[in-house]
Amino acid sequence: MSEEILKFITCKTKLNTMKFHTRKWIKPEDLNPNGTLFGGRLLEWIDEEAALYAIIQLENPRAVTKFISEINFRSSAKKGDIIEIGLDITNFGHTSITLCCEVRNKMTHEVIISIDQIIMVALDENGKPTRHGKVKKEFVIDRLGK
Ligand SMILES: CC(C)(COP(=O)(O)OP(=O)(O)OC[C@H]1O[C@@H](n2cnc3c(N)ncnc32)[C@H](O)[C@@H]1OP(=O)(O)O)[C@@H](O)C(=O)NCCC(=O)NCCS
Repeated sequence: MSEEILKFITCKTKLNTMKFHTRKWIKPEDLNPNGTLFGGRLLEWIDEEAALYAIIQLENPRAVTKFISEINFRSSAKKGDIIEIGLDITNFGHTSITLCCEVRNKMTHEVIISIDQIIMVALDENGKPTRHGKVKKEFVIDRLGK
């Protein structure tokens, strides 16, 4: 089975356990001329969410976005809708982690976008990739008493 297919399945299997930490309320300033959610705004929210997730998981404030796989806007949202952004980890690399993402419309229950791979890289103080040493997802409870 190809690596591409494996990554896709891995992301799909994450949907049951994926955490949707962030909700957004669609306001007039978030709309495109068609009156629906502007794609660039959504990508900004996803990128910020991925950065926060990576910074927290890698315990490194210098985690940056390296790669985002295919983006397919499957449905949209309109003013007043509430959307939720979910992320999960599909792979721990040496200096990177791979996330997958799904954004849902809470009003219509439709998937707005799903992204199979968002690759975030941990950098050192010189802006070079640095090993993060992480091998599994950590929760607050794992870090208490460290
Ligand atoms: C992030 C950056 C330092 C990485 O530099 P690089 O020379 O590609 O680094 P490396 O080749 O050592 O790769 C680092 C990691 O990224 C992964 N990677 C690099 N290019 C990749 C790509 N195109 N697709 C998937 N993963 C990739 C590598 O596999 C490696 O992961 P691993 O260590 O877990 O195995 C550099 O590309 C950069 O500064 N980019 C700009 C980042 C940025 O500013 N993002 C904000 C948006 S503008």
